[in-house]
Amino acid sequence: MASEPTTVTITGGGGQIGYALMFRIAAGDLLGPGRPVRLRLLEIPQGMRAAEGAALELQDCAFPLLREVDVTDDPLTAFNGARIAMLVGARPRTAGMERGDLLAANAGIFGPQGRAIGAVADEDVRVVVVGNPANTNALIAAASAAPDIPTDRFTALTRLDHNRAVGQLAEVLGVPAGEIADVIIWGNHSATQFPDVDHAILPDATPVREALAERLGGEAAAAAWLDDTFIPRVAKRGAEIIEVRGSSSVASAANAAIDHVRDEQLGTHNGWTSAAVVSRGEYGVPEGLVCSLPVVSRGDGKGYRVIEGLHLDDRARGRLAASVDELVAERDAVRALGVL
Ligand code: NAD
Ligand code: LMR
Repeated sequence: MASEPTTVTITGGGGQIGYALMFRIAAGDLLGPGRPVRLRLLEIPQGMRAAEGAALELQDCAFPLLREVDVTDDPLTAFNGARIAMLVGARPRTAGMERGDLLAANAGIFGPQGRAIGAVADEDVRVVVVGNPANTNALIAAASAAPDIPTDRFTALTRLDHNRAVGQLAEVLGVPAGEIADVIIWGNHSATQFPDVDHAILPDATPVREALAERLGGEAAAAAWLDDTFIPRVAKRGAEIIEVRGSSSVASAANAAIDHVRDEQLGTHNGWTSAAVVSRGEYGVPEGLVCSLPVVSRGDGKGYRVIEGLHLDDRARGRLAASVDELVAERDAVRALGVL
């Protein structure tokens, strides 16, 4: 059993995030040191040479766990037997493009890819959408793969936002990032998201809010820092990276995508994490939307499970509702295109 490779498909295999992902996956960072992998890289014709070049480099690494690399521009070949699909390739927003144009262009990618996954992927495939607008692209792909693949196999990446939130807290509190547990990203992978520390704790069970109050000079100062600095900084970190680097996040995005799939496959060990999953109505989020929620995985092959029953005060409910409104508007725009 251990020698049977797991097929991992990466779309956008000739792009930046694809390049940052594939070497770590081949090195064993995704599924652990005992699980060999077969990589399938999907590209559009213009991206094929870049993906083929990356495949040559993979060969030159002589990774012991890497059994095969295929590069293709045919979704049916790319997703054939896929157990894990990381949908990274997407149509970026370009000058003059309205949000509706962006949704339409991406529906033209994620609809056919969802159908291909439904047709040929492993029946227990797990899909994470990275390409933006990630939540709604996942909604489109999930709807297009149904009924062959249950929609709950589709998720979108908000682990990058989660990790960003942890990174900010670690810096302010002066503690290692690994000591901060139970942060939550609620909502959309966009500037409306709600990074929430109300349930977050340190290893001795001290609430992060209490530690912030101590560090920043009282509860009011901590609340002001959370609302005026922390939340906007995390929610707009993607734009900050673009401004400083000159292009969008790559290694941190790939790292988060690996964290997302690894924890889903092998289990969350340190409290919960955040992932955009298909809502079943938890926390009043309309059923079927792909919304970031607090999740755990037992590593039992059943994927992420939503942590239910957390108390949200009025402030938190209002912030979640604002992000959900945006997800509803994206879904309605896609419906108006006749895609869903
Ligand atoms: P990139 O432009 O470097 O690479 C994208 C690749 O996808 C290109 O090589 C392109 O040819 C390919 N592609 C386009 N359409 C395709 C299709 N139909 N099938 C297969 N491949 C296709 O971009 P990148 O930096 O790798 O970013 C990829 C996406 O990830 C973008 O949408 C970006 O906004 C998004 N992103 C998401 C997060 C997140 O946290 N969810 C974080 C960072 C970036
Ligand atoms: C990110 O969060 O870094 C990406 O989604 C890029 C962006 O446009 O914000």
